[in-house]
Amino acid sequence: MKQRVGILLSGRGSNMMALVEAARDPNAPYGVALIASDKPDAAGIAWAQAQGLATWALAPKNVGKPAYEAALDSALREAQVETIALAGYMRLLSDDFVARWRGRIVNIHPSLLPKYKGLDTHARAIAAGDAHGGCSVHIVTEELDGGDVLGQAEVPILPGDTPEALAARVLEQEHRLYPRTLAEFVSR
Ligand code: GRF
Repeated sequence: MKQRVGILLSGRGSNMMALVEAARDPNAPYGVALIASDKPDAAGIAWAQAQGLATWALAPKNVGKPAYEAALDSALREAQVETIALAGYMRLLSDDFVARWRGRIVNIHPSLLPKYKGLDTHARAIAAGDAHGGCSVHIVTEELDGGDVLGQAEVPILPGDTPEALAARVLEQEHRLYPRTLAEFVSR
């Protein structure tokens, strides 16, 4: 039986697309059961709808955070989601939501955790003079970008690198790392 994955996003959704592509392999250990967003006009939601995938979206400001998260939780359970993959989801999940899905939410973060939690990861890695940037897939806990790391990819920082150039090279690695790590995670 394939694991049923729900993907949460807020933006363009390139990592979501990589996960959907990988799930099309008949041997993939997971299928994408729902694509959900806090941004009804997210580009990733439009793409998913055009692919005929199940989508759900609600703007929290219209209903308040508790009602938004309750509706999200219901949508995920109705779709029989077992694992949640955050893919550019730009909102903090409440402790209560994390507790209800404990150990079953993963995220991709554009740094070599535990370095550079939060935002502006590439600029911070360059400013620190690091030899490598990269990306990490980790378990989501109540601590921002703080859960166990499941997989990482390193990307060399080049002389004269800009945050934008490094971000583009790291993003290519995110698209390889996330499907592979999620497949390992749901298979264990
Ligand atoms: C990626 O850089 C990811 O690491 C971070 O947010 C960005 C999402 O990009 N969490 P996309 O929406 O998947 O294209």
